[in-house]
Amino acid sequence: MPRHKLPRLFLVTAIATVLLAVLATPGSPQGRGANALPAGSWMDKNMPPDQRADLVMAKMTLDQKIQLVHGGTGGSGAPGGGAAQPNRSNGGAGWIPGIPELGIPDINMADSAVGVTRGAARSRYSTLLPSSLGLAATWDLNAAHLYGSVIGRELRDQGYNMSIGGGVDITREPRNGRNFEYAGEDPILAGKTVGQLMKGVQDQHIMGDLKHYALNDQETGRNIGNVILDTRSMRETDLLAFEIACRESQAAGVMCSYNKVNGDYACENDYLLNQVLKKSFGFQGWVLSDWGGTHSTVKAALNGLDQEMPGSGFFGDALKKAVESGEVPMARLDDMVHRILRSMFAVGVIDYPPAQQVVDVFRGLEDSQHIAEESIVVLKNANKQLPLNATVKSIAVIGGHSDVGVPSGGGSAQVNAPGGNAVPPQPRPAGASPAAGARGGTENSVYFPSSPLKAIRAKAPNAKVEYNEGTDPATAAGLAKTSEIAIVFVVQPMSEGRDSATLSLPGNQDELVSAVAAANPRTIVVLETGGPVSMPWINNVGAVLAAWFPGIGGAPAMANIIFGQVNPSAKLPVTFAKTEKDLPHPEIPGMTQTAQAAAARGAAAGGGGRGGMPPFDIPYTEGLKVGYKWFEAENKQPLFPFGFGLSYTTYAYANLKASASDKDVTVTFSVKNTGNRAGVEIAQVYVSLPASAGEPPKRLVAWERVELAAGETKPVSLKLDSRFLSIFNADKDAWELVPGDYKVLVGGSSQDTLLSQPVKIGG
Ligand code: BGC
Repeated sequence: MPRHKLPRLFLVTAIATVLLAVLATPGSPQGRGANALPAGSWMDKNMPPDQRADLVMAKMTLDQKIQLVHGGTGGSGAPGGGAAQPNRSNGGAGWIPGIPELGIPDINMADSAVGVTRGAARSRYSTLLPSSLGLAATWDLNAAHLYGSVIGRELRDQGYNMSIGGGVDITREPRNGRNFEYAGEDPILAGKTVGQLMKGVQDQHIMGDLKHYALNDQETGRNIGNVILDTRSMRETDLLAFEIACRESQAAGVMCSYNKVNGDYACENDYLLNQVLKKSFGFQGWVLSDWGGTHSTVKAALNGLDQEMPGSGFFGDALKKAVESGEVPMARLDDMVHRILRSMFAVGVIDYPPAQQVVDVFRGLEDSQHIAEESIVVLKNANKQLPLNATVKSIAVIGGHSDVGVPSGGGSAQVNAPGGNAVPPQPRPAGASPAAGARGGTENSVYFPSSPLKAIRAKAPNAKVEYNEGTDPATAAGLAKTSEIAIVFVVQPMSEGRDSATLSLPGNQDELVSAVAAANPRTIVVLETGGPVSMPWINNVGAVLAAWFPGIGGAPAMANIIFGQVNPSAKLPVTFAKTEKDLPHPEIPGMTQTAQAAAARGAAAGGGGRGGMPPFDIPYTEGLKVGYKWFEAENKQPLFPFGFGLSYTTYAYANLKASASDKDVTVTFSVKNTGNRAGVEIAQVYVSLPASAGEPPKRLVAWERVELAAGETKPVSLKLDSRFLSIFNADKDAWELVPGDYKVLVGGSSQDTLLSQPVKIGG
């Protein structure tokens, strides 16, 4: 060997050794097979994803195909569960081992409804975003895209390549424990919001999913409940939200839900999976089961499930046997595998694999705070009490652990709080129910270190700002009495796996607000809740803000709204009922049964319904009348209507014109800022269909966020999507535009549609 080659060889060997060491390091995604090495002609980025998938599949054995259609963490609890794979998962909720020799990386999934969860296993930090219900309150599709991009970015940084967030079940049940993971009661608002969110995730080359398909609208009995709903209502409400989100995001995955729908489990429901999702929506990605939501092999495979998660009880050996015996055609297994591979190519997880790096904490905080500022709804502002002036002399800050932080949603969406829970739970008093907690249930949440008290102090540096924890209403009222202003933070801890039995705030918080308001009429209530709550004290308080679970930037965002650095623009994505008596189901279906069964087991009430309980029906008798559609059809006045929200300025609408040519309807109008400060008005367009359509009184069909300087007027022109004007004809299995007299209604909320204009469509 020539001498000059020696150092070169040495260098190459040294580099190779270092590379190998890096590749083999536990904790590096490469070492765990996440980023397999390129192999084969399918690595050509310019080739269409379907063709690339077919080329890979031509090289795959039956075992390799089976490997992709179930999770690798093993043991779903069913016989035969548990893949004999070395566990090289990234630590998220789901892991599917890839096929490195074919260049197919592992799929590493992380729950990420409101931020990346379980991130701390590989990274020190994930950004907590406002709840996705809060995001829906922004009515801002750019904010939705940003929300998704924060999640996508941080998943990449933590070595994941798939998000299993994307909740879009509509709010049929305002007491649903997971409403904070969803996007409200209107299918168009929810579908578009989550569609853009998921697009934001996938634009980071991270696969997204939409869940929980479908009609998983309550947690009570989620594993045993059988939702009964007619086809037309399904298609125009819950399924429409999924349809819009699917089309807008081209999400890689759809997670089928735990519950049954009209007799069949969602994860083996031919109508939901084959006929609607795959055929009618044209969904090209794959259907993965909710965790443990697979119930069969042949039936599930034939009825449209593509991947069992997280184990292999049904889609491991059992599926292999079913394919070998011909019970499940090979073509069906190929379809499952094709859907998974084509999605990996289409989204770019193979071409642009994630690379671990430290999460950009500051960027996340800034984005989260921005979204929070757009999400906080001002519900009441008597005598223009808000915004507060920095010259205020004294403020009593009360309750909700607002001295240290903001609450977050629980369950699989739970993001790790930096430094741990800012409000460590205290031991429960003997005999108290788990839901009651030691401090009236307010601590049954993980609190993030964003202190409203500190943020308020920063805004009013010369004021005396004192804190009272609110456990004793009389002491809190005492402080409020001697303060110029009282701000009461009230919380509603919510989580997957349980619903709230009522719309009331837990513990003594209603009593607290009443006592404080009696002592000081200048009381501002800040709601940090999973969804709508009742407000028996509403007439006695000065102002109310709905801040949802506001995320890691929550405190400065709330303070910016309270002190007016940000002019509020958010509007309600859900109706706030006065009382549960006004809801379609005054009691959540199955609540009594599950509570009794739980009590017999000595567990907390309202669980998902596993544990030997007999199944029960969930009859969604309200059909099409979800949320505001119910209240309007039934002539019930809610506490605050859908679409409602105040600003620190005022707006006037004028010049409505609606014109139709064939199916195209164009609506034009103008909005004027009639106040003296700049703001953003969410202008809403509703439509009443002809009587022959048999629809609720009106539906939202479009909206526009109109940014206006003080005194400014802007024209708005919107072309309505004919799908949103249509009804679903179940007999024809098709959408149809009913010819006749429509009415276009425009205004600032579902109940504030001052402008209206008839328009004839079709016929
Ligand atoms: C939840 C899903 C979640 C999964 C994995 C299930 O219990 O319903 O939303 O993605 O667990 O954590």
